[in-house]
This record gives sequence, structure tokens and C-alpha cells, in this order.
Amino acid sequence: MRLILVAVLLGVALATRVSYEGYKVLRFNPTGDQLKLLKHFSNSPGFDFWNEPRRYGGNLDIMVSPAQLPFFLTYLKQNSISFTVLNENVQTLIDAEIKHQEATPKAPRAISFDRYYRHSEINAYLEELAEKFRDLVTLESIGRSYEDRDMVVIKISSGGNGTRPVVLVDGGIHAREWIAPAMTLYIINQLVENSTANGALTDAVDWYILPVLNPDGYEFSHTNDRLWRKSRSRPASGSCYGADQNRNWDFHWMENGASNQRCSEIYAGSEPFSEVENRNLRDFAEAHKNRTKLYLTFHSYGNYLLYPWGYTSDLPSDWRTLQDLAERVDRAQVAAGGSPFDIGTSTNVLYAAAGGSDDYMKGVKGVALSYTAELTDTAYGFELPASYILPTVRQFFEGVRVFGTYVKDNFSAKS
Ligand code: ARG
Ligand code: ZN
Repeated sequence: MRLILVAVLLGVALATRVSYEGYKVLRFNPTGDQLKLLKHFSNSPGFDFWNEPRRYGGNLDIMVSPAQLPFFLTYLKQNSISFTVLNENVQTLIDAEIKHQEATPKAPRAISFDRYYRHSEINAYLEELAEKFRDLVTLESIGRSYEDRDMVVIKISSGGNGTRPVVLVDGGIHAREWIAPAMTLYIINQLVENSTANGALTDAVDWYILPVLNPDGYEFSHTNDRLWRKSRSRPASGSCYGADQNRNWDFHWMENGASNQRCSEIYAGSEPFSEVENRNLRDFAEAHKNRTKLYLTFHSYGNYLLYPWGYTSDLPSDWRTLQDLAERVDRAQVAAGGSPFDIGTSTNVLYAAAGGSDDYMKGVKGVALSYTAELTDTAYGFELPASYILPTVRQFFEGVRVFGTYVKDNFSAKS
């Protein structure tokens, strides 16, 4: 038994990682015509669009493999498409990150934000809080992931017997966006372990937080492929694993900005809710939908604060409320030292993409206030060095404070 365990651990340690040696990230500010040309590459091998083209202007970051680079550079020249090199060699960053991850002491120890936590460490932290703060914290397993990881929601509630308004938060639906689970951990840390400063946020509102909505993908991005995005479900045939969990929710599924091709990074899955992780959160959200007043899902990157809809450019009837609250959140995080976010509906600010969790929570579960936060806007993209974790989460927590206060002021019985 022990031997097997050792072999398995060794296997994980020695698993060959995908190499990004010589991969470069190019940043474009394309015109409409240039964008059309660039889009042709979006599903080609050797090209990874780190952020999909926005509807109106803005940056487009494309990672290109060394094999494709010479040809691509010629193509850009021929078409007079200019760019800057955002990153000369992605593997250099990944190597530095691996080194840092290994050199920095691991949990258990007091929570720190100086390295990215693995899924087991995250769950261990939640367990520790449940032990220490029995009056405030309870844990609920909402089910297992495809690869059998335990998906644990931390419920932070100081009382009220299940009558208080709920803020539902998740992170890590996209595996490589490591700052997202870190953000949820910081929220948990502040609400539970820093009640002196943040007690007002939990005295009339319950917080239900799922740090990692795609645990299999998250772990895979630590062990095998740093830039993995999707889940890790096995297809009935073929070798492309996983689906984009943020195209897989059953609300206008596959209508826009999603793919039915298994190998695509935005593969919507074989059917709505084909992904068990999404079904787990769906069922949890269903059980608490009447009390859930705000849903917040963390992604990276680009500094966007988005609200529905992502499937259409039509505005929801209450868009003013969504916009105003987002602007207040942004002002708070800017005051804390953050740089401003672009605010608006997903479709209008970013691009149309149906089947997202934010749309589903609003459109199906009736959670009026539903937001996607795309944290950070640096040249590192997804490969955000660990030294950025603390400033990032600290700044945005001031925005989270505004969200929580809004729910308290508008929905709690006490107010
Ligand atoms: N970057 C996110 C994604 O591509 C944005 C999601 C915004 N929401 C939406 N429903 N499209 O999944
Ligand atoms: Zn994302």
C-alpha cells in the first residue's frame, strides 16, 4: 500500500509537464479588419488566445508556439498588423513560478498569500477554520469532481438560522486563472479570521464560498499544463479532455461564443450540464436560491467587472442597478490602489459567450445581482507571479466589502 502511494506520488512529481519553451505572447490593438484576420488563427494548433477579441478595441493577447512564430511574423508583416511582445518566453515565467511554489513553505501554517495553494491545502484550510470557528463556519460538500475531488463550500454565518440574505462566491472555474481561488481564500480569511475589521459584513449576511469550481483542471494546471483552462472529463472518443465549464450552463447554451468541437478551448460540453462540477454548484444554488441576492464569480485577467448578459447584447431590465453597484465597487478598489475596471455587460464590454455561470444564476436561479470579475491586468496574463497575490486580493476585497454592504443594506431584515 505504502509502495503504491510512493509510486503514485513519484508519478505525479515526475509527470512530464507541457513545455512552453520559446512560446511568446504578442499583444495587438487590432482594427476591425485586422481582428477578422487574426481570428482565423483562434483554433489553429500553436495559437492560444489568452483573451478573446473584445467587441470594441482593446488588447488582444495571443500566445504563439515557436514552430508557428516565423510564419506568423511574416503574415503580420505582410498584412501590416503591428504588435508588441508581451512575453518573450512563457516557460521562463513558469520555471520561476515552479521554483517559488516549491521553495515557499507549504500549509499547514497560518494562511499566507505568498504562494498559490493546491486544492488539498485549500480544503485543509477550510477544515481548520471549521474547527476553530465553530460558531461562524460550517462546511458542506456539494459533491465530487469528475476525478473524485471533494468540492467543499464554506458557509460563513454568524446566526439567523438560515434566514439571512446570501452572497454566493466561487473561483477557479477556469483552471489556469490561479488568482481566482486565491481571491476567494482571502475573502474567507478576512471574513472569518479578521472579524474585528470585518464583523459588519457577517452580522446580517451569510456568505457561501466555493474556492475552486474546477478542481481537476486546477490541479492539472499545477502538475501538467500550467495553461490548462477546461475541466478534465474524458470524452466518449478522441483525445481532447474536458469542457469549458463557463460555456456549459443551461441558459441559452451554445447560442453564442461557444464551440461544439471537443478540442476547442471554449467547448461547451456534449450537452448543458455535462460537467459534474457545474451540476454540483447548480444543485447547491437551487437549494438556496430564494435567499441568494448576489453571485460573484472570479476569473482572470483584464480588469473587467461584468454583468449579464453574456449570450446577447440586450441589456437586462435592471442593468442600471447592476452598473451603479459595479461602479461603486470599482471606486472602492481604486481607492485601495487598484487600477480601474471596465464595467458593463459581458457581451458589450468583452464578447458574446453563452452558457456562463453568471447568466445562469441570474436568468434561471433569479439571483438579480450577478457578476464576473476578471482580476488583474498585467503583462503576465495568467502567469501572475505570486508576489502579486496579496496586493491584488487586498485591493479587490475593498470592492467585495461594497458588495456585502449593499446586500446587507438592501436585503437584510435588520436594515
Ligand atoms: N472570460 C470569461 C469567459 O470567457 C468571461 C465570462 C463572462 N460571462 C459570460 N456569460 N460570457 O468565460
Ligand atoms: Zn476565465
